[in-house]
Amino acid sequence: MDLSFLEDVSSPFAFGRIAVGNTFVNRDKEKKRLALNFANKVNTILISPRRWGKSSLVKEIGTGMNQIHKQYRFAYIDLFSIRTESEFYEAYAKEVIKCTATKFDEWISNTKLFLQNVTPKVSIGGDATHEFDLSFDVKDIKKSYETILNLPEKIAISKKLKIIICIDEFQNIDGFTDSLSFQKRLRSFWQQHQNVTYCLYGSKRSLLIQLFEKRSMPFYRFGDMMFLGKIAPKHWEPFITGTFLKAKKKIKTEQVTKIIELMQCHPYYIQQLCYLIWIRAGRMVKDSDLNASIEDLINQNSNLFEREAESLSNSKIAIIKAIAKGYHSGLSSGAVISEFKLGSSANVTKTLKALDLDEIIDIRKGEYFLIDPSFELWFRKRFLGKKIT
Ligand SMILES: Nc1ncnc2c1ncn2[C@@H]1O[C@H](COP(=O)(O)OP(=O)(O)OP(=O)(O)O)[C@@H](O)[C@H]1O
Ligand SMILES: [Mg+2]
Repeated sequence: MDLSFLEDVSSPFAFGRIAVGNTFVNRDKEKKRLALNFANKVNTILISPRRWGKSSLVKEIGTGMNQIHKQYRFAYIDLFSIRTESEFYEAYAKEVIKCTATKFDEWISNTKLFLQNVTPKVSIGGDATHEFDLSFDVKDIKKSYETILNLPEKIAISKKLKIIICIDEFQNIDGFTDSLSFQKRLRSFWQQHQNVTYCLYGSKRSLLIQLFEKRSMPFYRFGDMMFLGKIAPKHWEPFITGTFLKAKKKIKTEQVTKIIELMQCHPYYIQQLCYLIWIRAGRMVKDSDLNASIEDLINQNSNLFEREAESLSNSKIAIIKAIAKGYHSGLSSGAVISEFKLGSSANVTKTLKALDLDEIIDIRKGEYFLIDPSFELWFRKRFLGKKIT
């Protein structure tokens, strides 16, 4: 098969991975606030629905600050697949060691130097990339969590570094066995660190709010709470137009507006839709390219949405119908309750709460929105008989 056409087609749009460099749009205010927080050792909690750009933003700051000043070191830990306290310590120690040294030999010597009483097992990858992995004996961990949790502070002092520890999907610690004791432990060590800053982020808003805003919880008021918003149309417009132009394709202003409106400024979906259009279009983006790309995007997801909708209760479907029809507030009013057969206002409140936990709706300034714009388009077609484009 002739694949030579691949030589001059590298996608100008990126989705499903961290947005970097040319594909990273705006976020100037958020970047400034986050960078100032990190420089001033202010712990930060960053919350947004999935795929709005938390990881990209944190990485962007990390790369930027590290370039300006080598003294800043960023450790990235993702709790997505971490389910126990021991796994947490392993990932924590490993990433701290990795970000504070650049060479493999240094990783090993730092492990020996700073984790003396823990006796970790270091596994070395077979090839030249030198995969570095750390694991501890569980018995050991119980005795030594103090050493592990103080590791970044100890290294930071000894090497005159400022370490920023970024922990993604932080809400997962809520599911650990005896989570409350673990949280207390983390907080009691972390709050004493003078050279380490913590950036904790995730998408389960209600869980994260519980962890950080409830007075009785160990992490109560741990740091600056940032709710990441979407990116405004005025920033998307030049990015979309300019990126198509660089790829030698012309797109009309109305088409750009339509992309932004239909995808409701959602970073992931805007990038994905633009990618699909870019694949399809010739020198000029035609309306038919745009419409076919939207259909394509919805079709890719429709099996998943079908399954998701099947698992939802009638009350949930009824509320989603109301929101998809444009009712973003006043859902407990008599008129809306009777139009959508929502039962009682107590039922509306309960269902809204459940939909928030399901990460299906988002609440902004007292108004309710569906989080996923492509689900909304699909839902409107499937349940309200509306055309997609
Ligand atoms: N600043 C940005 N400019 C342009 N595109 C962005 C930006 N931030 C995010 N995106 C787009 O959104 C997608 C999701 O971003 P990212 O993975 O950073 O989000 P997230 O909030 O960490 O998601 P998750 O909750 O799933 O971890 C990226 O792949 C990229 O396409
Ligand atoms: Mg992420």
